[in-house]
Amino acid sequence: MLQFLLFSLAAALLYHSAPVSALSICYGNLGCFTDDPPYTNTLGVLPGSPAEVGTRFFLYTRASPYPEQLDYNFPANVNRSSFDPELPTKVIIHGYQNNLQTVWLSRMKDAFLATDEYNVILVGWGPGATTIVYPQSVSNTRIVARQLARLLLVLWQTKGLDLNSVHLIGFSLGAHLAGYVSRELGYKVGRITGLDPAGPLFQSFGEPIYLDRNDAIFVDIIHSNGLPGGAGTFISHGHVDFFSNGGAHQPGCEAREDLINTERVKRPCSQNKVEFCVPLFL
Ligand SMILES: *[C@@H]1O[C@H](CO)[C@@H](O)[C@H](O)[C@H]1NC(C)=O
Repeated sequence: MLQFLLFSLAAALLYHSAPVSALSICYGNLGCFTDDPPYTNTLGVLPGSPAEVGTRFFLYTRASPYPEQLDYNFPANVNRSSFDPELPTKVIIHGYQNNLQTVWLSRMKDAFLATDEYNVILVGWGPGATTIVYPQSVSNTRIVARQLARLLLVLWQTKGLDLNSVHLIGFSLGAHLAGYVSRELGYKVGRITGLDPAGPLFQSFGEPIYLDRNDAIFVDIIHSNGLPGGAGTFISHGHVDFFSNGGAHQPGCEAREDLINTERVKRPCSQNKVEFCVPLFL
């Protein structure tokens, strides 16, 4: 015990006397990222490079028979796409251990386009989301948010996109990512829906690094796996927070399936049940 106290004291002295040198990394025209507050939740892990994170944006509309890739570095191509600024825009963002092939993304996109005319943009960041080191994927949300903000700016410049008509829908880590988009833009999008925003490295953090009601004109959050050791959060940060079946466990999921553990980290059962909430947005 005494040894522990001495060690803590020494560590504290060392920490406070060390020169304050924030970590920082820069990626060309995307600019720099530091671990300055509020982004201290990843314990110094900074976002990976654009090549490592592998962000891709695909536009789906009723007007185009095939998906169109949107690249903010090529505004003329974005301008030639079938994006229609008169239509509402739905942006769907996956979370940890998901990628563009994850089936709920296509299901949600198809459901929107079967119901009405929309611009639907799928945001894929599979290589950045499927890291083994969870803090790395947490940190990668920041660069994807900046890239998505760039794309929205290019859509505004070329097509006259109205940011009020943009609805970001983010699952798990994608929910917090959606919140960062408005911070990058310095302007609130119309709506963000958080589908069971990720809990680990967010929930118990003092800094405002999680999706909250300041990140869009309207923020609605559905909690499905918010419990200690679960994948989600149990705190109301939206304008409206729904706690599906109480917000911790969903029917058909065993309690042990919902805890973060090595077998279940890829598919926490109750968290993934939020995909059944899709009809609520149509
Ligand atoms: C986008 O395309 C339209 C015609 O399709 C053109 O009039 C307009 O100038 C273009 N805008 C930009 C910013 O390239």
